[in-house]
Amino acid sequence: MPYLSDYPRYAWQLINGERTNGELRLAQWRERDLAAHLDISAPLRILDLANGRLRPQYTILRGAGHQVYGVDIVNRPALNWTDIAYQAARWIYKWRLRPVNRIASSETLICGNVNWLPFPEQCFDLVTSIAAFEHFLDVPHVVSELYRVLRPGGVVWVSVHLFTSPSGGHNVSFTEIPLQRVPDGTDAWDHLRRRRLPFSVPLNEWRRDQYLEAFGRRFSLIEHYPAAYEGEALLTSEIAAELADYDREELICHAYVIVARKE
Ligand SMILES: C[S@@+](CC[C@H](N)C(=O)[O-])C[C@H]1O[C@@H](n2cnc3c(N)ncnc32)[C@H](O)[C@@H]1O
Repeated sequence: MPYLSDYPRYAWQLINGERTNGELRLAQWRERDLAAHLDISAPLRILDLANGRLRPQYTILRGAGHQVYGVDIVNRPALNWTDIAYQAARWIYKWRLRPVNRIASSETLICGNVNWLPFPEQCFDLVTSIAAFEHFLDVPHVVSELYRVLRPGGVVWVSVHLFTSPSGGHNVSFTEIPLQRVPDGTDAWDHLRRRRLPFSVPLNEWRRDQYLEAFGRRFSLIEHYPAAYEGEALLTSEIAAELADYDREELICHAYVIVARKE
């Protein structure tokens, strides 16, 4: 479980810019990968799939002048103290991200399930999604929805938080990116081994090659690569032997990027 000290630590990471710097890095990777495939200097129609409560990439892309839509089950009116806390966090994000364009209030955020996208066919140039695919319980269905809503020549840029990574069970500290330590009484990669720590969010438990196969069935894969690593120091020879069914890259990569085009 996350440590209690994670919450003030997270607030400090918000204020000091550590969190938003990570988001800006993702946006830079995306821009670099898309440069040869889309004209990102012109305003594009973009779907940020599972935009999240903090809406970081939605904010960055709208701030860059694109027409961005977000679909997430959390896109609903603020009702309780948690929602109000997230509203404050979003304000800090926006202040830190310093978008070039003024961002109007969010009429393009839709409360919905990614399994049924409320958009007509071929209406997006780009779909992006960060740290969300690992939560989708019917990935092939979501991939076929993306295929439907993208125009021919449109591109998907997805970063998956791999289940096989040390933090892939989503039940360790969320303030350590990359993860440095595991909760007392458990071992690294507990979620692939003894499962002492319960999961608190839905996880499909997919492996890297399953995603590649699912995207490859519908799209042309442009490229895919491990974007960020964690836990090299935690991977002892005993653990590596116990987890011999997984390759080293799967075990120590926490952000895996897939870029694919609809032909
Ligand atoms: C770890 S968060 C990532 C959010 C955001 N992309 C970011 O990088 O901050 C995963 C998000 O996926 C959303 N999500 C999970 N399953 C979903 C589904 N079936 N339909 C819509 N949203 C979903 C959750 O509500 C959550 O906001």
